[in-house]
Amino acid sequence: MKIAIGSDHAGLPLKETLKIYLESQLIPFEDFGTFTSESCDYPRTAELVSKAILSGQFDRGILICGTGIGMSITANKFPGIRAVACSEPYSAILARRHNNANVLCMGARVVAGGLATLITEDWLNASFEGERHQRRLDMITRIEQRNLLPNIETRSEETAEEPADDSEVDHD
Ligand code: RB5
Repeated sequence: MKIAIGSDHAGLPLKETLKIYLESQLIPFEDFGTFTSESCDYPRTAELVSKAILSGQFDRGILICGTGIGMSITANKFPGIRAVACSEPYSAILARRHNNANVLCMGARVVAGGLATLITEDWLNASFEGERHQRRLDMITRIEQRNLLPNIETRSEETAEEPADDSEVDHD
């Protein structure tokens, strides 16, 4: 299993903690940023990680921001991404068993490193149960398809979200 991992500035320290855990478990991953503590915009990283998964080069993603919420909202804009913001293991396990969640989002301002590592471990080890849950995921897929934007350009690399103009960047 290959993991795409990413964070914004708020999630950077927790991302580093989780990378150490992944390394200790010999789980391959690629870090899609951010790489500094400078303020940045979470939608950009969420887009990079979501596209990496949809490309087929990565099996699952982990996204960390302050709350996990902005990352999950953004990732769920990509058809085929099922992102969940979790702050305890039960939801993380059920997100795999019932929802086949392929992106785990966490908030570095919500969960400390030890709990986040446990959530990640449980999420990585839990398996989708299929059957009635697959029927429900198929319903979600049809909802996605019925609501796709007609403009195919919105999916191209050229229109990928760019970093904000420096003059617009705040400090959080
Ligand atoms: C950044 O301050 C914060 O808004 C971001 O990390 C995230 O929590 C948004 O959902």
